[in-house]
Amino acid sequence: MAEITLERVSKQFADGATAVREATFTVHDGERFILVGPSGCGKSTLLNLIVGLEEPTGGEIRLDGRSLRGVDPKDRDMAMVFQSYALYPHLSVGENLAFPLKLAGLPAPEIAARVAETARLLVITDLLGRKPANLSGGQRQRVAMGRAIVRRPKVFLLDEPLSNLDAQLRTLMRAELIRLQQRLGTTTLYVTHDQTEAMTLGDRVAIMRGGAIEQIGTPRELYHRPANLFVAGFIGAPAMNFLPGRLTADRLVLPMAELPLDSAQRARIGGANGPVIVGLRPEQLELPSSDRAAVFDCTVDLVEWLGAEVFVHLDLGPSTLALPPALAQLTADRPRPIARLDPAAAVTAGQRLSLTFELSALHLFHPDTGARLPERA
Ligand SMILES: Nc1ncnc2c1ncn2[C@@H]1O[C@H](COP(=O)(O)OP(=O)(O)OP(=O)(O)O)[C@@H](O)[C@H]1O
Ligand SMILES: [Mg+2]
Repeated sequence: MAEITLERVSKQFADGATAVREATFTVHDGERFILVGPSGCGKSTLLNLIVGLEEPTGGEIRLDGRSLRGVDPKDRDMAMVFQSYALYPHLSVGENLAFPLKLAGLPAPEIAARVAETARLLVITDLLGRKPANLSGGQRQRVAMGRAIVRRPKVFLLDEPLSNLDAQLRTLMRAELIRLQQRLGTTTLYVTHDQTEAMTLGDRVAIMRGGAIEQIGTPRELYHRPANLFVAGFIGAPAMNFLPGRLTADRLVLPMAELPLDSAQRARIGGANGPVIVGLRPEQLELPSSDRAAVFDCTVDLVEWLGAEVFVHLDLGPSTLALPPALAQLTADRPRPIARLDPAAAVTAGQRLSLTFELSALHLFHPDTGARLPERA
């Protein structure tokens, strides 16, 4: 049993920078909990606070209800894996695995048994005699995991453990990590800046920005009901399209279409009449089929063909709708909406194209705060 609870945990460094602001959440026993966010948002600091490499300047961290305040890192029964792996170069793989157990004073036969078992689990038995320098990146990553597992800790803390690997190996190791964690059932906190890694690995995911947690949820919750523009733009690839919109008493005006709203729909959406930010995922745009959907015409600006799918960049033409401030910032680096279509669609740059979407696919956000409006249309 290992449940970690954070209550309004903050960290302000001596130079005044606040790296973590009032983080509050519980990681349940056996859960894979992911911290994700852009560089510098405080992910590593939060992990260091939990493992005890840093002390919080505010709030409380508990392990199974017991406060960790003042508890030495080595007495927390947690094992951390760093991005750099931090293996001892002069020790063999076997000696690297045995090291934490020797430090803990375990008897030699017990150490030998655990090293053998861990090596078997990670399929590195053949490597036990080698030095880290003579291993591939993926093998080193496995040894680093092994050194954490061999201690049989209550909690694993992993800080970007796959980021030194190439894309193919990363995908492979991701699946291995899930299998391994499921087998061991150890409570795991995992840090990454990669939303795909977060979505695939996480039972639940916490999205951080500027030291604050923006939203915590299952990958599905984050995808379907992002709490604000930041989360909406962070989760999903290609990223959600954002468009200026305007709500009236009975319609939603978009740059490329006007959608009538019945009174029930209008009431569900909430928000005042006036500007609104509309989010529409690239995968929710389709070639015309169902007659319930909104249809609009656009010009194809650019086509990215990827074999299994095609990303079509769209020119919606001039819009009379003003860009709300929260949106102007967001769309600066991706000016054109993208549709993710079936490659059979044989679309070429410069052509006119009709596309559709369902009203229910739209996400609506407050034009100033970026907060989600209560309901989907
Ligand atoms: N020891 C320190 N002293 C002062 N400021 C620090 C210290 N460690 C981190 N910071 C600052 O705290 C903020 C959060 O840093 P942190 O390393 O936790 O970010 P991160 O989310 O892990 O980023 P990355 O994805 O780049 O690893 C940054 O602004 C960083 O400069
Ligand atoms: Mg970091």
